[in-house]
Amino acid sequence: MQLALNSPLDMHLHLRDEAMLNIVAPLSAKSFAAAIIMPNLVPPITTIAALKAYKERIMIATKGEKFTPLMTLFFQDSYDYDFLKEAKEYISAIKLYPAGITTNSEGGVSGIDSESLKMTLDAMSELKIPLLIHGETNGFVMDREKEFVPVYEELAKNFPNLTIVMEHITTKDSVEALDRHKNLYATITLHHLLITLDDVAGGMLEPHLFCKPIAKRPEDREALLKVALEAHPKVMFGSDSAPHPQHAKESCGCAAGVFTAPIALPVLAELFAHHDKLDNLQAFVSDNAQRIYDFRPEKKEVILEDAPSTVPAIYDTVVPMYAGKEIGWSIKSVS
Ligand code: DOR
Ligand code: ZN
Repeated sequence: MQLALNSPLDMHLHLRDEAMLNIVAPLSAKSFAAAIIMPNLVPPITTIAALKAYKERIMIATKGEKFTPLMTLFFQDSYDYDFLKEAKEYISAIKLYPAGITTNSEGGVSGIDSESLKMTLDAMSELKIPLLIHGETNGFVMDREKEFVPVYEELAKNFPNLTIVMEHITTKDSVEALDRHKNLYATITLHHLLITLDDVAGGMLEPHLFCKPIAKRPEDREALLKVALEAHPKVMFGSDSAPHPQHAKESCGCAAGVFTAPIALPVLAELFAHHDKLDNLQAFVSDNAQRIYDFRPEKKEVILEDAPSTVPAIYDTVVPMYAGKEIGWSIKSVS
């Protein structure tokens, strides 16, 4: 069996910088036509100059591939209309992190409410710049996303012309919120479609599956699978592929992040084929995102086939999800 995908898009990707950028960027650029690039570098990307320089480094690291990095700024509540008007030309979205919630988010927002963010969110609404949110409180780890849903809903209600993307949703509650607000959308990762907390910590601890938000309960995964497999018009694929060097994962104080970029498309194809929903994969990995972001990618055709392949044990310093395991599908060609 084969499947042709037109211009697959990864709507949430960490490419990092320097040596790590050079290891991971080519792996995404090989099979994706474009990706939304996260700005949580050290220091985070908060200026147009830093953003342009980072984009340049990505272009160099992905030279020779048809791949468009869709850049984002790291949200600051000091961004005003004039700054955003100038920035708009260079960015596809702005990413908001609650302060300290995950890797490199110390400079994020403490206290997310409509009043204190009004200046920036009004300007983003007017300029049609999507707001991407890492939606977790600092409550009990299994409840953090659920507790954040009212924040999403307040923002969606108070800024009805703002496109809000709930990033990497992991719960049934977030899925249910999608249909209550016309301006709420979501990205879903590959790993949250595949694993629950049991896979991370139910047996021997699996550091390479540890991420934020942490994988949840079987009923949450079921709810995510349902909307992904039907390619619900408000959900998009965003891998949240988040590489860390092996020593930072296999250590006391394991860094959060699952590295899925090189396996994402074959494993998605295997998953959709398993559920007899291959016809919906194009919408989940490209068409929905094109509509939501009003973006037309360059043409890039990826042919996938149900030929088994073995996932490499390591890419330089980074261990991928399913390292050393056989997966049922592989990439046949890219043109
Ligand atoms: O697991 C995660 N890793 N979640 C995030 O939100 C950030 C990411 C990273 O940058 O490592
Ligand atoms: Zn992320």
